[in-house]
Amino acid sequence: TTIHWDLSQAEKGGFPHFMLKEIFEQPQAIQNTLLGRISLETFEIDLLQKEIDWLKEIVKIYVVACGTSYHAGLVGKFFLERFTQIPVEVELASEFRYREPLLHERCLFLGISQSGETADTLASLRLAKEKGAKVISICNVLGSSIARESEIVLYTQAGPEISVASTKAFTTQVLMLLLLALYIQKIKKGLNQYPELIEKLLHLPVILQEFLDKSYPRVKEISKKWYQAKDFLYLGRNILYPIALEGALKLKEIAYIHAEGYAAGEMKHGPIALIEESFPTIILAAKETGLVYEKTLSNAEEIKTRRGPLIGITTQGSEEVKRLCEDYLEVPQVPYEFLPIFYVVPLQLIAYEMAVLRGCDVDRPRNLAKSVTVE
Ligand code: G6P
Repeated sequence: TTIHWDLSQAEKGGFPHFMLKEIFEQPQAIQNTLLGRISLETFEIDLLQKEIDWLKEIVKIYVVACGTSYHAGLVGKFFLERFTQIPVEVELASEFRYREPLLHERCLFLGISQSGETADTLASLRLAKEKGAKVISICNVLGSSIARESEIVLYTQAGPEISVASTKAFTTQVLMLLLLALYIQKIKKGLNQYPELIEKLLHLPVILQEFLDKSYPRVKEISKKWYQAKDFLYLGRNILYPIALEGALKLKEIAYIHAEGYAAGEMKHGPIALIEESFPTIILAAKETGLVYEKTLSNAEEIKTRRGPLIGITTQGSEEVKRLCEDYLEVPQVPYEFLPIFYVVPLQLIAYEMAVLRGCDVDRPRNLAKSVTVE
């Protein structure tokens, strides 16, 4: 067993857990996922080797997934609708497969799965195919069942993800959804309308690396202060609402702390009743979201009025949030489309740190499996 231990230490590359290693691998994973997909001269995205005619004819997109991949799908809706103008529905695979979705040959079924083996996602994909929908999947595992059964597979190049809690698979899925949205935009219009944004994607790994290194010490301080809380509320709006859901999921999964992700504007319809001194809220407030940033600030005020402690994850230099929050962590200014990636990273780290402080088995949380191949 000594040998085994040494081996696993080596595999962790000096990190105490796979999860932390994988969090820190995200800049590289993103770099690898971008590789060969963007032309360095024209900033054109190329995802498929050949042009697929039916892609221009799609009138409806169903994004279907489970767990963390579902949250990536929720982010993807913003990208797909913004860039392709095609209506998108995002659904949990366990729901999709047991209702009667309105599918036909001009629908695109977009399955997202790290493992490519999740039973509900696979069953949903089979249903969609049977009804004549076109199928694309975003997978991380080469030759997995979902990959094999899809007409088109877009591989995230996150590399093997060992930790049960998904981190680098999520951020590369989000990236792939952005690439796909921009790619469909180009196919539909016959013209790449977003070369500047695509050029910025090339710098994403470097700025993300800087942010990771800078924010980790701050996350440690925040986690130390709050890890004994029994419940957490995560609030976000717009493209950061799915990130609030993902942050809460991470905390539940590995730190076994009850956490709820909520759309900040919906708080007044229930969760606000829970606010008290012992119930901290992590609030995601990015200036890049414009009007909803202001709205998020008023939600923060409402919590403060009720003596709820606030931890803000916010744009660098946003004095309003600093004033309202007991603790805050600053995120550099980035293009709107990069927000989900930058805001999820501190939430991954917070869940990790709190789990470690609470003595949890981070890489192998109780009752959870890395891939759920049965119903
Ligand atoms: C399990 C894992 C999660 C994962 C979900 C979906 O619940 O513990 O981390 O997000 O399955 O997995 P998939 O491989 O389909 O992305």
